[in-house]
Amino acid sequence: MILHTPVLLNEVCSFLRPESKLIVDCTLGHGGHAMTLLSLAKDAKLIGFDVDEIMLKKAEFRIQNSEKEIKSSGATHHPSFTKEDKKENNNVEEDWGRSRKIEERVEYVHESYANIVSVLEGRKMDFILNDLWVNLEHFKAVERGFSIRGTANLDMRFDTSTWASAADILKTYSTDQLKDMFEHYADFSSAKAFQLAQHIVASRKQKAIITTQDFKILLNECGLWDKACTVIFQSLRIETNKEMDNLKKFLSVFPETLNSTWRCLIITYHSTEDRFVKQAFNALVATWNYKLVTKKAVQPNYKEVAVNRAARSAKLRILEKIN
Ligand SMILES: C[S@@+](CC[C@H](N)C(=O)[O-])C[C@H]1O[C@@H](n2cnc3c(N)ncnc32)[C@H](O)[C@@H]1O
Repeated sequence: MILHTPVLLNEVCSFLRPESKLIVDCTLGHGGHAMTLLSLAKDAKLIGFDVDEIMLKKAEFRIQNSEKEIKSSGATHHPSFTKEDKKENNNVEEDWGRSRKIEERVEYVHESYANIVSVLEGRKMDFILNDLWVNLEHFKAVERGFSIRGTANLDMRFDTSTWASAADILKTYSTDQLKDMFEHYADFSSAKAFQLAQHIVASRKQKAIITTQDFKILLNECGLWDKACTVIFQSLRIETNKEMDNLKKFLSVFPETLNSTWRCLIITYHSTEDRFVKQAFNALVATWNYKLVTKKAVQPNYKEVAVNRAARSAKLRILEKIN
């Protein structure tokens, strides 16, 4: 199984209070963050969301077997524990034995994190983690149509039960809608985005764009090579999964779900996402009920980036409720 490496794992754990009782992982993925959070906050229950059912099943399998994995990884203590806490945590085997069974501690939710309020039904959280973007498996599983490599139907949906695949978008969007997508999510200039949109609309009248290679060839015809193709594919994925809309909805509602002295951590990988998070957090801080735990976004150090290139653009922002 290809495993997604959790980004900024030590940093995320250092902001967890071990006494936390209710934790939300908005994007379980392969459960890397969730497993470690559960091992550190031993009395906590975790509610894990993922819109991708395949990820949810994999996370569940991994978390159920996590006692063994955590023991063998040697993750024995919380980075911010005191000496006494560390002494107490020296024997992981004993710790796991002492806590409730893992299957009783986790609730798996096949829903968008944007619907957090309705899913939680009034339950208040101590710690929320939202690690945005994609799982490594989305790119590696070529048949899901996320990658410019290999040939597959141009799908790109996290949740395959939703209507519009990436191919449906290329087939039905107007020139202006396509232009906006490339301008906002691929950072293309307005003129360049418009030219590309026009070319797509003209080409699709001649030949339908069905596979990843159909689209890549069309981009090559416009003088766009691998690096630019990757950015265009990324913009199409963001649009297919309504990633910015989901984030904006989440940012407008998550404070309702928080306990007093709770923390919300968001990891972004795109400048537009990070701008939305920064603006939403600053607006909450201005109400005097919240504070930023770190003034600047936390970023991975060079050692992490050297072993996990996917971490290179990550930015972690942390908000705390103070009353
Ligand atoms: C970066 S991965 C999370 C990795 C995870 N933290 C780990 O340690 O394995 C992002 C995950 O978010 C999921 N996702 C994307 N949009 C979502 C949404 N609106 N609601 C819930 N999950 C979503 C994707 O399917 C993917 O599995």
